[in-house]
Amino acid sequence: MKDKTRLIHAGRHPREHIGAVNVPVYRASTILHPTMADLEGATLRYGYGRRGTPTTRGLEELVCALEGGSRTVLTPSGLSACTAALLAVLDAGDHLLMTDTVYGPTRAFCRGPLARFGIETSCYPATATAAELEALIRPNTRALYLESPGSGTFEVQDVPALAAAARARGLAVLMDNTWATPLYCKPLALGADISIAAATKYFVGHADVLIGTITANEAYAKRLLALHGAMGLYVSGDDAYLTQRGMRTMDVRLARHQETALKMAGWLKARPEVARVLYPALDDDPGHSLWKRDFTGASGLFGVELNPAPKAAVAAMLDGYELFGMGWSWGGYESLCVPTKIERTEGGYRPAGPLLRYHAGLEDADDLIADLAAGFERFNAKL
Ligand SMILES: Cc1ncc(COP(=O)(O)O)c(C=O)c1O
Repeated sequence: MKDKTRLIHAGRHPREHIGAVNVPVYRASTILHPTMADLEGATLRYGYGRRGTPTTRGLEELVCALEGGSRTVLTPSGLSACTAALLAVLDAGDHLLMTDTVYGPTRAFCRGPLARFGIETSCYPATATAAELEALIRPNTRALYLESPGSGTFEVQDVPALAAAARARGLAVLMDNTWATPLYCKPLALGADISIAAATKYFVGHADVLIGTITANEAYAKRLLALHGAMGLYVSGDDAYLTQRGMRTMDVRLARHQETALKMAGWLKARPEVARVLYPALDDDPGHSLWKRDFTGASGLFGVELNPAPKAAVAAMLDGYELFGMGWSWGGYESLCVPTKIERTEGGYRPAGPLLRYHAGLEDADDLIADLAAGFERFNAKL
C-alpha cells in the first residue's frame, strides 16, 4: 500500500463505529467493566482512559503505519514528544550527542532537567561526517539526537551515515522529523530507532491543536511504552480526533505547501534585499543533494537571510504584511513570517543580516508574492 492510501485508510474502523467514516470522539476517564474478572483481566483492550480509547489508538495506528514503526505513542505537544523520547532512552550518568541545529526548547530541556538528573549533553555540528561524530562518542554516550533539516537554518544532515555510526557503537538514534513529516522522510528506514513529530504542525494542519507523536522500532518500543505510561502522558479524544481528521488531507496540503514555498523561495532569491534563501529543495542549496537522496519532498517552511538592515526596516516589512501572520508554530493552512533567533555553539552557518522564517500557506502564490513585494517597499523606505 502506498502512503497516499495509508493516509486515507489506516486507523479507521467504520464497522466498529456504526459505519462512521471517522473514528468518533471518545471522552472517557473511567471505563466500566461488567465483572471483577473483566476489571482484572489482562485481555481488555481498553482499561482506563489515560491508557487509550479507540480515538487515540486509531491515531497511533495511522502514525505508526506511516512511520513504519513498531509502536507509536501520543504526547500533549511536540516538545513533550521530544523530551519524553529522550527520557525513554537515557539513564542517569549517560551522555547525549545532539545536533547543534536542534529546536531551541529541546536544547533547553537537556541543559535544564536532563542535566539535573545527571545526564550530560554535547552538541555536534550539523555538517559532521560519520568519522567526526564517532570521535565525539564517549564510553557513556547512550544516544544520538538528530533533526534534519535544522531548526531555523535548515542544514540537511547525512542521517544514514550518522545513524549507522551511532548504532554500530550501541547508541539509540532519535530524530525530530517535524519538518518533513513521515510522508517526505522516513527516519526509521534511514537508520533511526525513534522518530519524533510535532504533530501540531502538518498532521493537524489547522493551527488549533498541540500534540506530539513518538514512534519506535521494535528494539525501543518497550522502553517507550513504559516511560509514556509512567509519566501519565495523555491526549484528549477531541485533539486526537482533530489530528486524525487533519492527517487525512496531509498529502494534498503538503504538495501545495511545497509548490508555493518553491515559488516564494525562487522569487525571494532574486531580490536584491536577500542575501540567502535557506531551503534544501532549491538546487543550489548546500543540503540539496542529501535532501534529494533521503527525502521525497519539502514542506512549506524555509529561512531567508536579508542583507544587513536596521530593525526598523524589518519591523516595517513584517508589521505591514497582510497575508503573512506573525506567530509561533507553523504547518497550518496559513502563511507566517517571524524573525528567527538561533543558538549555535559548534560553528557552521551564521547569518550576517536579519534571519527570517517563512511558512508558505495554502493561499494563492501570486497573492503571497505581491504581499512580499509590498513588504520590500516598506523595508527599503526605512533604509
Ligand atoms: C522542529 C520542531 N520540533 C518540535 C517543536 C515543538 O512542537 P510544539 O510547539 O507542538 O510543542 C517545534 C515547534 O515549533 C519544532 O519546530
